[in-house]
Amino acid sequence: MRDAVLRNGLKPIPAAVDSIVEVRGISKTYGDVEALRGIDLDFPRGKLTSLLGPSGCGKTTLLKIIAGLISADAGTITVDGKQVSAPGPERAFVFQDFALMPWATVMRNVAFGLELRGIGKAEREDKARHYIAEVGLAGFENKYPHELSGGMRQRVGLARALSVDADVLLLDEPFSAVDEQNRRKFQEDLIRLRTTQNKTFIFVTHSIEEAVYISDRIVLLSPRPGRVSRIIEPEVDRSGDPERIHRDKHYLDTVDEIWQGLKQYVD
Ligand SMILES: Nc1ncnc2c1ncn2[C@@H]1O[C@H](COP(=O)(O)OP(=O)(O)OP(=O)(O)O)[C@@H](O)[C@H]1O
Ligand SMILES: [Mg+2]
Repeated sequence: MRDAVLRNGLKPIPAAVDSIVEVRGISKTYGDVEALRGIDLDFPRGKLTSLLGPSGCGKTTLLKIIAGLISADAGTITVDGKQVSAPGPERAFVFQDFALMPWATVMRNVAFGLELRGIGKAEREDKARHYIAEVGLAGFENKYPHELSGGMRQRVGLARALSVDADVLLLDEPFSAVDEQNRRKFQEDLIRLRTTQNKTFIFVTHSIEEAVYISDRIVLLSPRPGRVSRIIEPEVDRSGDPERIHRDKHYLDTVDEIWQGLKQYVD
């Protein structure tokens, strides 16, 4: 499908052509709950795409299908042109609820993905140490998850996903359990990582502001059953002071425009 893309909701522009993940006709029903219906989406290389939509619209379900953790009832997922139906090393998942091993240190948790790939201890610890520092946790290598705050635990999850060198990072509301201050810091990190790492981020959130602030593209999903309702490419200049960006006219206009579209779903 060629998505009709609206830049700031105004001018249609051609859809991205170089996509790493292609979702075609994905549908999923759990028992009598229809979660997703006929999802067609392209996720461009090196960009951050957010999935935004009301609770229960199937965001986590779609992410898990892309990750190969659950299967769809219909449709296909291709990554780099190859159809996938199981987890693979080119995709890494950061879960909504941390999913860290409570009995293992930060170092072991981050290095775990590399351990599974059979990488030797010295090499995996070097790599893990590098990414622990990248997410701002240098000095916490030997701590256990219970000794960290919620935000720090989510950073460990992010470091683990980055360390396995996956091309595609699937992030399910990675900031949901953190306070506003840490959320802002985390958003800055993600904006920076997106430019330094050249990875494809697929990011789930239900915050309109967050989606507009950090995303190259925003996919709006309808309430259950989730369908693609619109795709928006916010034109926000993210250089400079975050406070200025939060007052930027494009930023505010795009937040308002998405809100106008979504508020019909709020009781
Ligand atoms: N394992 C499951 N078994 C049965 N129903 C499920 C299962 N997982 C999800 N569902 C249902 O499918 C729908 C979509 O769930 P999903 O978790 O994908 O939504 P979501 O958009 O991620 O919501 P949230 O924003 O609250 O995280 C919901 O109605 C949910 O109850
Ligand atoms: Mg979810």
